[in-house]
This record gives sequence, C-alpha cells and structure tokens, in this order.
Amino acid sequence: MTKLVLSEKQGLHEQFGEDAEIGGDHYRAWVGPPNYYDLIGVTQFNLLTLMGMRETNTLLDIGCGSLRGGRFAIMYLRPGKYFGIDPEDWAVQDGLQSHFGEEFANRKRPTFIKNSDFEFTRFERKFDFLMAHSIFTHAPTWQIKLCFEEAAKVMVPQSIFLATFFESLDGTDYTGNDWLYPDIVRYRKETISAIADEAGVECQHFDWPHPFNQKWIAVTQKGSRPDIAKLLGGWIYSYEATLERRATNTTWPTSATDKA
Ligand SMILES: C[S@@+](CC[C@H](N)C(=O)[O-])C[C@H]1O[C@@H](n2cnc3c(N)ncnc32)[C@H](O)[C@@H]1O
Repeated sequence: MTKLVLSEKQGLHEQFGEDAEIGGDHYRAWVGPPNYYDLIGVTQFNLLTLMGMRETNTLLDIGCGSLRGGRFAIMYLRPGKYFGIDPEDWAVQDGLQSHFGEEFANRKRPTFIKNSDFEFTRFERKFDFLMAHSIFTHAPTWQIKLCFEEAAKVMVPQSIFLATFFESLDGTDYTGNDWLYPDIVRYRKETISAIADEAGVECQHFDWPHPFNQKWIAVTQKGSRPDIAKLLGGWIYSYEATLERRATNTTWPTSATDKA
C-alpha cells in the first residue's frame, strides 16, 4: 500500500514538472514556472470570459504552447472553436495528451498550426477572440508589429485581442532583433501603443492581475473601442446584460465570425 502511494507520488511529481527548469523540455516548464502553471493559465481564461467569450465564439491562441490557458478554453468552447499556433509542436502535443488524452481532444476538435511567422490567415477564418499571453514578453518590436498586422487580417469589428507584455522599469525599450527565451524583454506602454498604431490597430492598456506583473492590453480594429472597464466589472454575468439580451432577442450566444 505504502509503495503504491509513493510510486504514484513520484509519477505525479514528474508529470507536473516539479524539478524542471523554466524553458526546459518539460511541457509545463517550457512555458514558464511549473509551480504557477495553474494560476497563469486560469487568469487568461477568466479574463477571456469577462471580456465576453461565450461557448460559441472562436479563439485564436497565439503561441499556445502546452495549452496552459488553452486547456480551459478547449473545455469551454464548442467543438472546433479553438485554434492554436506555436512553432513547438512537441509542447502542444504533450499538453494535449496530458490535459485531455485522445478521446477528449477528438471530441473538442481543436486546430493547431506549427508556425513562427504569425501566419494566422492559414486558418482561413476570422476570430472573435485572440490571446497572446507571454509572447510580447520575449519578442522584438518587429515581431510584435508583425503579430499585430497579421492579427488585423483575421479580426472583425467585434474581435478582442488580449495580450501581455512586461513594462519597462527604467524608461527604455528592448531594441534587440531577437526573440529572447526564457529571458524576458520590456517595453514602455507608449511603445506598445505606437507599434499597434503603426500596424493599423488600436490598443487599450488596462489592469488585470498577473502573478508576475505582466501588463495587459486589449487590441481591436481602429475605431471599435469596447468598454473594457465595464466588461472588467462583470457586465457579461450581470442581470442588466440578461435584460439587454432579452430586449434584443439575443439570449442564445452567437459568434460574429461564424461565417466571416
Ligand atoms: C512563455 S510561453 C507562453 C505560452 C502560452 N501563451 C501560455 O501563456 O501558456 C511562449 C510560447 O511562445 C512560443 N513561440 C516562440 N516563438 C513564437 C512565434 N514566433 N510565434 C508564436 N509562438 C512562438 C513558444 O514556443 C512558447 O510556447
């Protein structure tokens, strides 16, 4: 009996990457500190639902990695509504296997593309929500701009693209040309806004908790500015929102990108 408990414990210890180095080849450590894998995943999902993500919506998870946040979205969204892109196929596959196994993955039908050039048009569809968590925290400005430009091609006026970055501590920006990993890079808020503007999209900075103080932005098409403060206040769950849906005959969740 004791032996069984010990061996199970050992298995779990390895399964959850408790000794693995950040950025190493364990699916949990690859994306960050394994001891924060749960919290960093769930804060992404909570934010997506606060921003209005319903089960009928489509989500593009940019740099999805081992599905730290993606696993909650795959569970919540209807089959075929989750899309992930990442150059590291092994991390995606290990995440899928560990979180779901084949049967559940087949039922939910997530779509993955292995790519490092932000070629979102390869999915041949538009998205209601986009998430780039802990991507700009490692990326040079040219990659951030490319990501915004490619995102703009797969967004509709209702789309909300959520992303994080590390804010500059000394008023300077990272000026290198390389993706740094697991090292991090930092930018001023104004720099992120200016890159978005050059790429033809609009960026709103807002406060939402992050265990490592990454800062959040909501990127939208220019001129379409969702009321982020209202959404963060829980509007989506409110009775007022229910009444509004009733009045406008929109009680069933839909998607602006079903046919787009
Ligand atoms: C810090 S992890 C974040 C993973 C995931 N977004 C999350 O929060 O759990 C960074 C991820 O970016 C991926 N990545 C690296 N270069 C990329 C690129 N050019 N395009 C998309 N993803 C990239 C890495 O493979 C890794 O999975």
